[in-house]
This record gives sequence, structure tokens and C-alpha cells, in this order.
Amino acid sequence: MRIITFGTFDVFHVGHVNILERAKAQGDYLIVGVSSDALNFSKKGRNPIYSEHDRMQILGALKCVDEVFVEESLELKEQYILENKADMLVMGDDWEGKFDHFRSVCQVVYMTRTPSISTTATIEIVKSLP
Ligand code: CTP
Repeated sequence: MRIITFGTFDVFHVGHVNILERAKAQGDYLIVGVSSDALNFSKKGRNPIYSEHDRMQILGALKCVDEVFVEESLELKEQYILENKADMLVMGDDWEGKFDHFRSVCQVVYMTRTPSISTTATIEIVKSLP
């Protein structure tokens, strides 16, 4: 069973580990589409702290991740799912319902986010330190 997931995974944190390990547990091969720096800027209105190159290196070093690629465009998600022969798309439940239209090409599973942590919150905490 091949699993695919997507995200920016900037300032890597335990919420990222949790979803990746839980995604991997759904099958036996986990592919991660990592938002490009440009896509991240268009989605979140800021550049990531870590470059796409570094974010891919971090993700690729994880035991639970088998393959990483750069997600250049949100419009290409279906193509990425098909190209990678993914049987299941896993996303955090902040995306609940948003990817249901991919049910025609693969299973779609939303997983509960880890509470009380996010990249944005971490950046804000660091910024507010004296
Ligand atoms: N994620 C999660 N639990 C968290 C934070 C993120 O399960 N506490 C999941 C998201 O649902 C997504 C993946 O991790 O499927 C990548 O999310 P990303 O947007 O890169 O991380 P965030 O910490 O949510 O980043 P930001 O604060 O910039 O939105």
C-alpha cells in the first residue's frame, strides 16, 4: 500500500513526526510532496524559514519516509497522486473535506492534528523571546 501526503514541513516539529508516522502506519511506502518555496509563499504569504532543499533533506532522513519530491503547484495534486501510484492520500484534519474529490483516484484519510503546536506558533514564540 503506497501512501502520499503533502505539506510545507517548515521548522520541523513533533506534529510533523506524528502525522508522518501515522501516515506510514496506514501502508508500507510513504511518499511526501514538499511544498516548494514559491508555493509556500503563495499559500502562506511568507517564505519558509528552511529552504525546500533543506526541508526535503530533513524529511528524507526520517525512517518513516521512503521518498520525497517537490510539490510545485496545488493544481498538480491529482497528477502527483497518479504518477506516484498512491493508494491513499493522508492529510491533517485542518484540510478536512478539502480533498474529497480525490476519492475517485485513491482513498482519502484526514488525521487529527497534534494539539498545541504549529510552525507558525513556533515562529511567533521565537520572535517574542526577549
Ligand atoms: N500537522 C499536524 N499537527 C500539527 C501541525 C501540522 O498533524 N500540530 C500536519 C498538517 O495537518 C499537515 C502536515 O502536518 O498535514 C504539514 O503541515 P504544515 O502546514 O507544514 O505544518 P504547520 O505546523 O501546520 O504549519 P503552519 O503553522 O505554517 O501552517
